[in-house]
Amino acid sequence: MPLFTVSATYELINIKWLRIILFLSVLMPLDCLAQEVPTTPAPRVMRYRNKLPHPGLLRGPYLQAATSTSMLIRWRTDALSRSRVRYGTTAGNLDKMSSDSALVLDHQVKLTGLLPRTKYYYSIGAFTDTLQGDENNYFMTLPVPGEEGKYRIGIFGDCGTNNVQQRTVRDQFVKYLGNNYMDSWILLGDNSYENGTDAQYQPNFFNVYKDNLLKKYPLFPAPGNHDYGNIDFPYVNVPNRGYDIAYYQNFSMPIAGESGGVPSNNPAFYSFDIGNIHFLSLDSYGRESKSAYKMYDTLSEQAQWVKRDLEANKNKGWVVAYWHHPPYTMGTHDSDKEADLIKIRTDFIRILERYKVDLIICGHSHVYERSKLMQGHFGPEATFNAKEHNLNQSTALYNGTDNACPYIKDAKNDAGTVYVVTGSAGKLGTPKATYPHDAMFYSNATMGGASMLEVEGNRLDFKWIAADGVIRDQFTMMKEVNKKTKIKVKRGKPVTLTASFNGKYSWTNSPQTSKSIQVSPPVGTTTYTVKDQYNCVRDVFEVKVTRF
Ligand SMILES: [Fe+2]
Repeated sequence: MPLFTVSATYELINIKWLRIILFLSVLMPLDCLAQEVPTTPAPRVMRYRNKLPHPGLLRGPYLQAATSTSMLIRWRTDALSRSRVRYGTTAGNLDKMSSDSALVLDHQVKLTGLLPRTKYYYSIGAFTDTLQGDENNYFMTLPVPGEEGKYRIGIFGDCGTNNVQQRTVRDQFVKYLGNNYMDSWILLGDNSYENGTDAQYQPNFFNVYKDNLLKKYPLFPAPGNHDYGNIDFPYVNVPNRGYDIAYYQNFSMPIAGESGGVPSNNPAFYSFDIGNIHFLSLDSYGRESKSAYKMYDTLSEQAQWVKRDLEANKNKGWVVAYWHHPPYTMGTHDSDKEADLIKIRTDFIRILERYKVDLIICGHSHVYERSKLMQGHFGPEATFNAKEHNLNQSTALYNGTDNACPYIKDAKNDAGTVYVVTGSAGKLGTPKATYPHDAMFYSNATMGGASMLEVEGNRLDFKWIAADGVIRDQFTMMKEVNKKTKIKVKRGKPVTLTASFNGKYSWTNSPQTSKSIQVSPPVGTTTYTVKDQYNCVRDVFEVKVTRF
């Protein structure tokens, strides 16, 4: 049999070229003529003419740019290979798959058409090999934007050291999490010391978190100065300034609004929703490519986008912003002396306070510092006046101690922000002379830690999990509680009363302890109240029963 049957259709083909093709087909294996051969093949591929080598897993898998219906899974192999993710909602039955036939070292497979807040098991590999995939390879898609639920978001600041502290903090954090799922985790920058190179990201970040966190929980990072190699990139002659740093290559950000929020079209800053929580991840170090502006310059592309995004997301239950450089700190940095910190405080946070952002979380200082609910303090530490700048003097510990009730916001009183510095997931350092900062209720410079945000409907709990596993600070905020409700019904019809808050319930005129109770009061007016266990919140229901 001849190799090719030349039909009349091809008679016009120059016979000289046909001879060249036949000559090449004899000399080379047929699969080398396929388009999948890389233009610059790696040495390991060259050794295998007819069969690709079995790649080894170098990095990941890790979960990026999550939405309620999609997940981007990334990993790195030590040899060029194709990409395939098998997945399904039952462990051991990965009945769906998504593939990419390109031969790459850095693999990215996006799963689409997923169900919201649904658990998916998955495996990664090439077309025939499985690199990883057991009962610990699973994730949950994000909830539908705006939907209420019980959500957990982990917070790691200044983590990338590859030291004992980083591992201890990680282990205590994972222990606290237990069998609970965490909807995502966020990074506050300085994710890899010393210069944020790819070679440093591997041991200082990816290796440390690969087993317990990266493979299960979608990650939404922010950059710090060390991710930029501590280089204040000039914008002139460097049109893409620091965008070629490893941070932007290692992470995929949802910049088109696919995870919620206004599209930023810029990987340095973006926003996303986890249920009824709106997050803004910002870049407090980089200079913008079209100007010398930084985040704190109110004419910067970033600041202008922040305004548009906050304006468009006023209806969210909670708004949380995070970035690296804190406006208030006397930890390992001094917010009275360092220019970036001063400008963020004097210029930038005014925007966020104007939009009633509930919580601002930063790192950079390798300590933990937490304010009360505050507003309008833009000067140095010495000008902080607790009576003037704290909108609520409570500690908000919400643990039964004195003066510890939650911060409460409602439609009429929705102002105030809690500021947190939680930058000790990998490092500690000596604080400044006036530490603790006067604006802070609780500060800790002696122990490392990471934080957990827990939101259930109109209740937000923030916890700092120290390196010894003890929750050494916490606070609670609530919205739209302390309700007074009047209900009118006809005799014989039961009435369901539902508390406005999440917690423990003590009802008057009823022994029940659930959030909702059913009552059948007699004709006339009966008043029911429900309180939490610390007498901090209280709803009143006036039920009027008529005869007809
Ligand atoms: Fe830093």
